Amino acid sequence: AAPLAGSRARSAATNPPPTTRIPTGSPETDDSRSRKDISGSIPDMPFAPERGVPFKKDDVRARAAIVRARAAVASDLEALRLDVAGCTACTLCADRQRTVFADGDGSAGVLFVGWAPGSLEEEQGKPFLGRSGKLLTDIIEKGMGLPRSKVMITNVHKCRPAEDRDPTAAEAHICSPWLERQIELSGARVVVPLGERAAGHLLRRPNTPLESLRGQVHRVGGYKVIATYDPALLLEDPSKKRACWADIQRAMAELGLGPPGQRSPK
Ligand code: URA
Repeated sequence: AAPLAGSRARSAATNPPPTTRIPTGSPETDDSRSRKDISGSIPDMPFAPERGVPFKKDDVRARAAIVRARAAVASDLEALRLDVAGCTACTLCADRQRTVFADGDGSAGVLFVGWAPGSLEEEQGKPFLGRSGKLLTDIIEKGMGLPRSKVMITNVHKCRPAEDRDPTAAEAHICSPWLERQIELSGARVVVPLGERAAGHLLRRPNTPLESLRGQVHRVGGYKVIATYDPALLLEDPSKKRACWADIQRAMAELGLGPPGQRSPK
């Protein structure tokens, strides 16, 4: 048995786990294992890492591999949501009140992805609330002519970072397989990252200026990525709304949506 973790049912909140170094050399350390490879053996969730101790490279790979293996066996979004709710794979779990998985059912074929939930989102367990959430709702409902409930909205990180610090590259890497599986299970044809960090993450080009990622349709596996601004930035700088609308129209074209007024009523 892999000496990686305790029982699947163990809760970090009720039974704070000791720190465990994930040994290298076990099958769990191979980050590239596919869904087929792990059938029949779901690795336990790793123990929460020790606060303030930076991850070693192997530890990051091992933890991401476990998240990937667990995400792979989630057969639907509800199973994935429940597994995310018990995640102790990275440092962010230590301070969270709850995970923030998604809002909307995704049936419109489009998924919006922010970077990380804030305090309001953590409190209510839903992404993009408050003023930036209202602007995102307007973009979806008034701009695209879709009910927000049919669009899936999520974040790269499912936990709010304490004091709204920027999550580390290691935390993003470990959390990433949840999002990848979420995109897969949602059946999204178009993924719209909101802001530079989410776009850089999804396009595997971290620290790239948003302006060099927007304005084009990127193919990533079975879906398309169309990057645009974080609504919080649009609130700070409304002059960017015109360019955002161009991005949204590009997404609408990929989804086969005409402007709201020109669509036949259903
Ligand atoms: N900004 C984000 O990136 N995500 C949220 O959920 C809210 C604000």
